[in-house]
Amino acid sequence: MGKVLVIYSTNSGGTKRIGDLIAEGIRLEGHEATVKNVTDVKTEKDLEGYDGYAFGSATYHGEMMGKMKTMLFLAEKANLEGKAGGSFGSFGWSGEATDRIFDTMQHIFNMDVVGGSLRLKSAHLQGGVQMAQDYGRELAKKIK
Ligand SMILES: Cc1cc2nc3c(=O)[nH]c(=O)nc-3n(C[C@H](O)[C@H](O)[C@H](O)COP(=O)(O)O)c2cc1C
Repeated sequence: MGKVLVIYSTNSGGTKRIGDLIAEGIRLEGHEATVKNVTDVKTEKDLEGYDGYAFGSATYHGEMMGKMKTMLFLAEKANLEGKAGGSFGSFGWSGEATDRIFDTMQHIFNMDVVGGSLRLKSAHLQGGVQMAQDYGRELAKKIK
């Protein structure tokens, strides 16, 4: 059984809900998933010991949230190369955060990323529950 860490950055809770559903999908594939608020990640040691990672942030003012940016600098020190990766987030109209995180996971951390990022206006609209669970399943399938 593999272990996946899901980290979210949110202001009004939408991105946490998506992260919880991604964790459900990971568990449905038989792996362990831990969901953490980005505020609970203090050092790169908090990121060690997992086989896969999903990082999520809501988009505000065309960007990911500041705490997620800080966490990505910690993640750079954690050596995530080759680990399974994906990104997610809640958004209103432009949703830049998820692709920015995804690109960093792919090009800077050299992770084994899934097909793309997951952007949802709400976990509970337009099939969002299913999409988020499926994203978790897709990520889990990358775990050797
Ligand atoms: C002040 C403010 C700025 C926002 N800026 C953006 C934006 O630039 N692009 C976008 O797609 N959504 C934007 N949104 C919408 C949020 O991304 C959306 O409400 C999202 O569901 C919030 O996620 P959260 O519940 O995880 O915090 C903004 C919302 C607020 C209140």
